[in-house]
Amino acid sequence: MKGHPFYPYLEALLQAATLAQGIHAYYLAKGFTQGTKSGPTDLVTQADREAEEAIKNLLISRFPGAGFLGEEGGGEGGKALRFIVDPLDGTVNYAHGFPFYGVSLALEVEGVIQVGVVRDTARGETFYALRGGGAYLDGRPIRVTERAELLGSLLATGFPYDVAKDPENLTYFARALRRGLLVRRPGAAALDLAYVAAGRLEGFWEVKLNPWDVAAGWLLVEEAGGRVTDLEGRPYHLGHRYIVATNGRIHEALLRVLRED
Ligand code: IPD
Ligand code: CA
Ligand code: CA
Repeated sequence: MKGHPFYPYLEALLQAATLAQGIHAYYLAKGFTQGTKSGPTDLVTQADREAEEAIKNLLISRFPGAGFLGEEGGGEGGKALRFIVDPLDGTVNYAHGFPFYGVSLALEVEGVIQVGVVRDTARGETFYALRGGGAYLDGRPIRVTERAELLGSLLATGFPYDVAKDPENLTYFARALRRGLLVRRPGAAALDLAYVAAGRLEGFWEVKLNPWDVAAGWLLVEEAGGRVTDLEGRPYHLGHRYIVATNGRIHEALLRVLRED
């Protein structure tokens, strides 16, 4: 792993995750100001903004010239090598003290995600992956589950803040529930993907996620032996409207239920 060409970036992303964890914990203890973005439930807190600022400063001072795409600040710099960061994934959970939130950090090189780190900043668990180097949880290799039956598999999904205007996933959610599938809505997409990688969920799907929600988790799932596609089963690419990530074995069956083929 240390010989991997992007190992120094993994080290830097792990440090950035620790920085974010400190900021999340600080504002949780001290109290924070909060505002809204696209609508009344789309929250942004001081912790989101300050974590992004701190992560960006650390990564850009370590790797000058790298590009940066963060949820709170938008994009800047080159695209050949860039960091893709959600400084606080699961903001609504965080704002309520519901302990399922974290930070998602990825390195993209020439359009390919090479490193992914997802830290659950409530529990302190760290999921990370290097392309071709496997996926790990706190230093131990992780694998997706072997379960092949869709019925009885544990699945997760999520909804955009403007679900009233863009209700497409309500259709998929209803289809899955009507079939008797076990579906959760935990509220932090990066962790949902990390949980698929770690074998705590068999699958996850969502509509309309952003690159910072999925860049790291996508690599985690693939490096843990899983499969990530769009709704048609085509390879996923960043910015795609649909993401379906599973242990591979239940993938086709889940696609069929969602599409109601
Ligand atoms: C949100 C979470 C949530 C997902 C939403 C995302 P945020 O990110 O990942 O699980 O359903 O679509 O926007 O706003 O907490 O960073
Ligand atoms: Ca997010
Ligand atoms: Ca966020």
